[in-house]
Amino acid sequence: MRIRTESKDDIDSVHQLLLRAFGGEDEKILMERLRMDPAINPELSIVAEDNGIVIGHIMFSPATLNDGGTLHQVAALGPLAVLPECQRRGVGGQLIEEGKKRCGAHGYPLVFLFGHKDYYPRFGFVQARAHGFEIRQFRVPDEVFMVAELHRGALESMQGEFHFHSAFEGLG
Ligand SMILES: CC(C)(COP(=O)(O)OP(=O)(O)OC[C@H]1O[C@@H](n2cnc3c(N)ncnc32)[C@H](O)[C@@H]1OP(=O)(O)O)[C@@H](O)C(=O)NCCC(=O)NCCS
Repeated sequence: MRIRTESKDDIDSVHQLLLRAFGGEDEKILMERLRMDPAINPELSIVAEDNGIVIGHIMFSPATLNDGGTLHQVAALGPLAVLPECQRRGVGGQLIEEGKKRCGAHGYPLVFLFGHKDYYPRFGFVQARAHGFEIRQFRVPDEVFMVAELHRGALESMQGEFHFHSAFEGLG
C-alpha cells in the first residue's frame, strides 16, 4: 500500500469511495466544493493506493481560529474514508499520521475535526472545548469536537473560536 498526494486522475475514484464509505452524498459534495477553492493545498488531499486502486482518502482544509485579537490559520481534518472491505487494517490511521505530518510542515499549529470520540484519541486528538476552544458555526456535543497539536505547546498556548471553511456549511 502507498500513501501519496491525490492526483487529478484520482478524483472520480475518491468520489466513489466517499459515496461507498459514507452511504450518502454530503462528503462528495464537500470535496467538490473544497476543490473549487484555489487556496486549498493539493498536497493535503491524500490517498491510500493498493494495487492501483484508491482504497482510502483524507482531506485537510484551511480553517481559522479567532482568539479575539488575531485570526490564526489552522487545519481541519475531513472527510476521511476507507473502502468498507479495506477497513480495520490501519489505513485510516496511516492517512491521519501522514496528514498531520504534512499539516505541521505546512505551518499549521493545530488540526481540528468533528469525529468519533473512540477513534481519534489514538491519534493524539483531545476534546477541544476542554482546552479552551469554541465553535459557533455548528452545534455539536463536546465529545465530537476535537483538536490535536502539530507544533509542540500549541494546545497550551492557543485558544479561541474555531471556524471551518465555508464549504462545510449547509450539509446534513
Ligand atoms: C473511520 C474509518 C476511516 C477508519 O478507517 P480504518 O482504516 O478502518 O481505520 P484503522 O484501521 O486505522 O483503525 C481501525 C480501528 O478504528 C475503529 N473504528 C473505525 N471506525 C470507528 C468509529 N466510527 N468509531 C470508533 N472506532 C472506530 C475500529 O473499530 C478499529 O479498532 P481496533 O483497531 O481496535 O479494531 C473507516 O471506518 C471509514 O471510512 N468509515 C466510514 C466513514 C467515516 O465514518 N469516516 C470518519 C468520519 S469521522
